[in-house]
Amino acid sequence: VPDEEALGKAASRIIAEQVQAQPDSVLALPTGRTPLRVYRELATLDQRGELDLHRVRFFHLDEFYPMATESPTSFQAFLWREFLSQVSIDRANVYFLNGLADDPAAECRRYEEQIAAVGGLDLVVLGIGVNGHIAFNEPGSPFDSRTRLVTLCPESRAASAYLFPSAEEVPRQGLTMGIGTIMEGHRILLIAVGERKARAVSESLGDSLTPALPASFLRQHPDLTVILDQEAASLLKRV
Ligand code: PGA
Repeated sequence: VPDEEALGKAASRIIAEQVQAQPDSVLALPTGRTPLRVYRELATLDQRGELDLHRVRFFHLDEFYPMATESPTSFQAFLWREFLSQVSIDRANVYFLNGLADDPAAECRRYEEQIAAVGGLDLVVLGIGVNGHIAFNEPGSPFDSRTRLVTLCPESRAASAYLFPSAEEVPRQGLTMGIGTIMEGHRILLIAVGERKARAVSESLGDSLTPALPASFLRQHPDLTVILDQEAASLLKRV
C-alpha cells in the first residue's frame, strides 16, 4: 500500500471483516507505533456503529517484565490508551500477561490455558522488529516456543525507549506468546511501515527460514497476510 494511512485502512478492514464473520473472534494484538493507525481506524468504525466489538476476546501479545500493570509504560496501559478505551467492549473479554507475576513460568502457563480455553486465537496481528522479532520472540527463538519469559535484545530495548523517561529504564526482560503459540492462530496479519523495517521485511519474506529471523517462520503459516507501506517494501526482491 502507498503509505501508513492506507495500511491503517487495509489492516482495519481485515480485522473488521474477521469480527463481522465471527462476532466472538479471539484477537491477539500488538503494541507499537505501527498499529496506531489501525487502532484509530477501528475506533472510527466502532464510533460510526459499523463494528460491534462487544463479544470479541482480546489477548495481548507481550508485556515487559517486570512491569506494573498500572504503569503508563506497560504494554497493557498502551493498548488501553491507544485502542481499548476508544471502543465499546466488554472488559471481561480482555486478557493480559501480568508483568509483575511472582512466578513468570506459571503466569505464562496460565495465559496458554486461557488461550486454549477460548478455543485458540482466530486472528493474530503482528508488527515486526528491526531485528526480525515478532512479539518479543527475539532472534534465536525456537519455532515451537510457547508463552514464556525472555531476555530482550539491545535493538528491541532501544526501539521501546520512546515509551520511557530514559533508555536505561526499559526492562531487560519480557513475557511473550511464543512462535508456536502465534503459529497456531488461524490467521496471521503482519504489518510494517517505514524504511527502518525494510531490511527485516525483505530478509524475513525473501530469504531462508531461520531462527535468526523469527518473522521468517510466518511464511509456513497457511493463512498469512502481509501489509507493507512502500518504504517497508522497498527492499523486497521482485519475482
Ligand atoms: P513498532 O514495533 O511498531 O513500534 O515498530 C514493532 C515491533 O517491534 O514488533
